[in-house]
Amino acid sequence: MDSKLLSGKIVAQSVYRNIKKQIKNLNEKNITPGLAVILVGKRSDSELYVRIKQKKCKELFINSFLYKFENNVEEEEIIKQIELLNNDQNVHGILIQLPLPNHLDEYNILNKVAIEKDVDGFHSLNFGNLAINSNPLYVPCTPEGCLEMLNYYNIDLEGKHVVLVGCSKVVGLPAALMSLHKEATVSICHIKTQNIKNITRMADILIVACGVPHLVKNDWVKDGVIIIDVGINRMDDLTKKRGYRLVGDVDFDDVYDKVKYITPVPGGVGPMTVAMLMKHCIQYIVENIEEQCVQNLNGGNYIESI
Ligand code: GUN
Repeated sequence: MDSKLLSGKIVAQSVYRNIKKQIKNLNEKNITPGLAVILVGKRSDSELYVRIKQKKCKELFINSFLYKFENNVEEEEIIKQIELLNNDQNVHGILIQLPLPNHLDEYNILNKVAIEKDVDGFHSLNFGNLAINSNPLYVPCTPEGCLEMLNYYNIDLEGKHVVLVGCSKVVGLPAALMSLHKEATVSICHIKTQNIKNITRMADILIVACGVPHLVKNDWVKDGVIIIDVGINRMDDLTKKRGYRLVGDVDFDDVYDKVKYITPVPGGVGPMTVAMLMKHCIQYIVENIEEQCVQNLNGGNYIESI
């Protein structure tokens, strides 16, 4: 690596090369992977993320099925849909786009997804198995993408001090658990953390996922730090045709002289999240191909039980 940039785009491409080969194998057995997405309400960020995921599915010949619900939908209606998808042999992954509106019980809804279709890894059983390092079927895509990127660039976590800024279920908390299982020393900072800079300045690897544009500045980090910036925020920029640009939670220009490596925004963690999701969409079929494929009466193959 001759630059300081850790490119998620490049790492994602290498993931896709592998996925494409596996999908070709599945197609030869008359299997087309399928991802179902449940989207509640009209948040523009969620709609955008869902469009990106669907576009990638299309590119990879993964079927994608979108179920949209009004913001005021009853919880029972979503659960009914999840149960149908759990039993649908054409659906191999179910993703509930988060966040859900406040009146819905996120925990209850996520736990209705069949664990072998829980491609986000948010079911309590998968998340609990991640916590105790006991073979979860899936782990959350974004932190998995962060660690996959570090691995690709031969950055070892063992014995390193990994500091998280943000403790969400989607990124910070699972990233902390995964880092711990790689034998890192882990500190988790959040909105109530006092003297946060004293902690972030100790980081060998700083993973920032708090949703605050340009929060992390030069004096938050030590020389030689490796920064993974998970944030994707809009910042007004009248020099751009669309009136804004995307920035991370880290002030990239401000910290650049101090970092050993840093992920850019866009082009860093974002592409890795999608790549991990696509990998998850085929993982269970690939790992269980023998049991999944049974000869049907017409001589074709079909997926029997997932
Ligand atoms: N909202 C923001 N990130 C994610 C994600 O990785 N998965 C889901 N389901 N919702 C999200």
